[in-house]
Amino acid sequence: MSGKKTILSGMRSTGKLHLGNLLGALQNWVKLQDDYNCFFMVADWHALTTESRRTKEIAVFAREMVVDWLVAGIDPKKSTVFIQSAVLEHAELHLLLSMITPIPWLERNPTYKSQMNELKDKDLSNYGFLGYPVLQAADILVYKASVVPIGQDQLPHLEISREICRRFNNFYGEVFPEPQHVFTSVPALLGIDGRKMSKSYDNCINMSDTRVEVEKKIKKSYTNPQKVKMGDPGDPSACPIFLLHNIYRKEQVSEVESGCKSGALGCGDCKKALLGILLPVFDGMQEKRAQILSKPGYVDDVLTDGNKRAKAAASKTMEEVRNAVFGKGHV
Ligand code: TRP
Repeated sequence: MSGKKTILSGMRSTGKLHLGNLLGALQNWVKLQDDYNCFFMVADWHALTTESRRTKEIAVFAREMVVDWLVAGIDPKKSTVFIQSAVLEHAELHLLLSMITPIPWLERNPTYKSQMNELKDKDLSNYGFLGYPVLQAADILVYKASVVPIGQDQLPHLEISREICRRFNNFYGEVFPEPQHVFTSVPALLGIDGRKMSKSYDNCINMSDTRVEVEKKIKKSYTNPQKVKMGDPGDPSACPIFLLHNIYRKEQVSEVESGCKSGALGCGDCKKALLGILLPVFDGMQEKRAQILSKPGYVDDVLTDGNKRAKAAASKTMEEVRNAVFGKGHV
């Protein structure tokens, strides 16, 4: 561990992970494991900000999400995999940070404003939702993480984390390194209805889908409605199937593109060619999942060990934090 920089990243446990999560965040995390001291966190407290009435599901999703991480190649021997609510130090640091965070920083947050507008079916008028970035800052700072892999949408949150970090260091002394973001690549993907792949649209191909499910989804997937039969010219640019060719059949992609545009390649054959590559990938993931689930207590053991390691790191930081805030010997 010595000499390596510390990374923290997390995901809210609000449902099954899909191909977008795998090709964006997860594959990136997997690559970072060797070069950094990585903490990967199930953000179950953050999930409560929108799902406070669905706590049973959050707990189930948390387990399933960790299985998806392991399937993707997160290695619990290299990385610390843990659950946010198992490390109470996050809550203590969140409280201390909340005392020095000006409310306008939170109200100005573009993610806060846009989610308030977009998620009309959820009750977001709670204190925790406004304070979401403060808890996120605590998640990062409690491990003194200096690198935070995030999607572009999370940048406003990270900027607030940095501001809170600077203010803390300024008030109480240099305790925390200022966290830098690295962007996880955003895969060019669409859901099977042609919109952005997203849980809330129910248009995802999930990591845990079986070959039968994948086949069904691909067969019924949206394609350019102007292309009705073979011979009709298509438009590959906005086609979920073409975008998958572009990821999984890179070498044949120009062939697919010209065939689609000229009309020589029909959508049925195009989908079949994709499935030829995609189904073995999903079979491989199913096999790995079965292996993981066949070891009794394995996922529990991974989390027990990860929670313990995370707690040890976080409690060490909190001693320093308490000393910085109140002076040594206060409690
Ligand atoms: N807000 C992140 C998301 O919705 C999840 C998250 C919680 C996180 N705490 C974090 C990400 C700390 C990076 C660092 O995806």
